Amino acid sequence: MPPGHLLRVSDFDPIALAAVLDLAARMKREPLAWQHSLRGAAVGCSFEKPSTRTRVSLAVAAHRLGMTTVMLNKEEMQLGHGETWEDTVRVLSSYFDALTLRTFDHGTVERMAGIATVPVINTLSNDHHPCQSLADLLTLAEHFGTPVGLRAAFIGDGRSNTCNSFLEACAGAGMHLTIASPPGYEADPGLVAAARRTMQRTGGSVEFAGDPVEAVRQADVVYAEVWVPMDRPQERAERVRRFAAYRVDAELLSHAGADTVVLHCLPAVRGEEITSDVLDGPQSLVWRQAANRLPTAQAVLHTLITGAAD
Ligand code: CP
Repeated sequence: MPPGHLLRVSDFDPIALAAVLDLAARMKREPLAWQHSLRGAAVGCSFEKPSTRTRVSLAVAAHRLGMTTVMLNKEEMQLGHGETWEDTVRVLSSYFDALTLRTFDHGTVERMAGIATVPVINTLSNDHHPCQSLADLLTLAEHFGTPVGLRAAFIGDGRSNTCNSFLEACAGAGMHLTIASPPGYEADPGLVAAARRTMQRTGGSVEFAGDPVEAVRQADVVYAEVWVPMDRPQERAERVRRFAAYRVDAELLSHAGADTVVLHCLPAVRGEEITSDVLDGPQSLVWRQAANRLPTAQAVLHTLITGAAD
């Protein structure tokens, strides 16, 4: 059974995860084959942080399912003028077939899911970015045939929402992940323990490396991540200093195999966490990864609203 909401990747158990990825692959091959499946349905989308890929792919995905999208701006609603969050979500649930939220505190999306009577999709919180990870897995499945058993190296902030979700994705898909982060930015032990429990079933693993070179040596996939989260510009100077040895560039990639591929969720800060020659180079799957936000968004909307991945 697919979950009622998608707040984090682990809301999909390994079987549901494989099913939604399979649906996304089919939707990519035949984008308009489901154009009548949700005709008349509507999704309400709230973005409290900037977004290019998520916002646009979601709207186009909804259109391809026959749905209407309404972008909800807090300042234009009574929510910005004193109406409670609870009353707002209750009313919106009676208009929409799904709600999406990009926000800061992950507790806010959990709160929305607790009140809503329709599926809620987390389009990024400070702790999780599940929609991104589904596109990551689809990209790897396309390139390698399957993500199962792949060895991935995540280079950068091990506590970032992208890393948290990629960890859960690797667990659900049975991948072997090595996270290379500077001291103080290591992955959350609770998330790692939960991922390891899932990996006992799926055959995956998660390890840690202080040295990015060590992390990429055996990797099929190298994942680069921004050093400074969009809502923490005040940490820029400190983070740039701490992450300086965690740049994904040609020198780092020279320690990996020639067939190793590179992912980045975008937007990238070229020359900082990833260099342009790598981002635009032959080992980069980044542009396909970004394109895959569309069929995965389509598959998520369809799966959560209809309750079936077909
Ligand atoms: N990767 C990602 O979520 O991109 P946007 O912030 O542009 O939506």
